[in-house]
Amino acid sequence: MREIKRVGVCGCGLMGSGIAQVAATAGCDVVILEAVQAALDKGMAGIKKSLDRFVEKGTMPATERDAVLGRITTTTNIHDLHGSDLVIEAVVENMDVKKALFKELDALLAPHAIICSNTSSLCVVEMAAATKRPKNVAGLHFFNPVPLMKLVEVVKTIVTSQETIDALFTFAKRAGKTAILAQDTPGFIVNRLLVPYLLYAIRVFEAGLASREDIDEGMKLGCGHPMGPLTLLDFVGLDTTYYIAEIMFDEFKDPMMAPPPLLKRMVLAGHHGRKSGKGFYDYS
Ligand code: 3HC
Repeated sequence: MREIKRVGVCGCGLMGSGIAQVAATAGCDVVILEAVQAALDKGMAGIKKSLDRFVEKGTMPATERDAVLGRITTTTNIHDLHGSDLVIEAVVENMDVKKALFKELDALLAPHAIICSNTSSLCVVEMAAATKRPKNVAGLHFFNPVPLMKLVEVVKTIVTSQETIDALFTFAKRAGKTAILAQDTPGFIVNRLLVPYLLYAIRVFEAGLASREDIDEGMKLGCGHPMGPLTLLDFVGLDTTYYIAEIMFDEFKDPMMAPPPLLKRMVLAGHHGRKSGKGFYDYS
């Protein structure tokens, strides 16, 4: 397996921009692909802001920030991903969109290149089956905020080669992350545990057993979590959590994974959390 020197990132939202940032910080040349220039501009502004925070804190010299930014280029043309050793997809959580993208990438990339999805819950082998290189396809699941969270889940499908897994563990280490090996089942390891916990916090609130503040204080101060579950739900996005829960429930039929009625209603009302200005708390 060749060393990963050039990384393509598809999608420049919160996750894609974070992934591009850590790959460039690891010393890779990074090309970010998006459908429209405005999304690239927004994502690049986020990367710059995050790197500036490290410089202000004194954990990164300004020269290093400039070098990291210099290693990132952006494009709206998929052909510019040609030459990538690794492409990480972080586009919308829609299987048809992802399969079409994997097919296009497969036709474009050199045979040694690895294609990964940052999906949090979709079936990775279904994406692999859209390519002629299923052994070189895996999941690479980062956590929000990507520049700060130390973990990455490397997701092995039933056909991913050990060589691909080894290359991804090496890449994760270079990116300053600790990698754990997960199987291709909905939620992998972390969301399999986290999502039922978050859903249960909603059930406790919905049943009127405690105030939102007390639920959050309870888990922060009683268990040492950095954020209480309702704050974390607002941070992750209620729509995102609802979507993951539906996929997990669909696969496992476990009532613990069924979205509670309140979550569905909040999503329908557009209360998606921080990004919409309102979730369990008001951010307006
Ligand atoms: N880049 C660089 N620095 C950042 C940053 C970023 N994107 N975001 C925050 N920071 C810095 C801040 O500047 C601050 O620096 P300081 O200590 O020098 O002041 C520091 O990080 C702490 O930030 P804040 O003071 O704003 O807030 P917190 O102390 O609460 O920390 C947090 C923020 C790191 C997000 C922390 O609350 C936390 O770890 N929360 C839990 C996050 C979590 O669980 N993520 C996983 C979600 S699940 C997921 O992603 C999977 C998906 O599939 C759903």
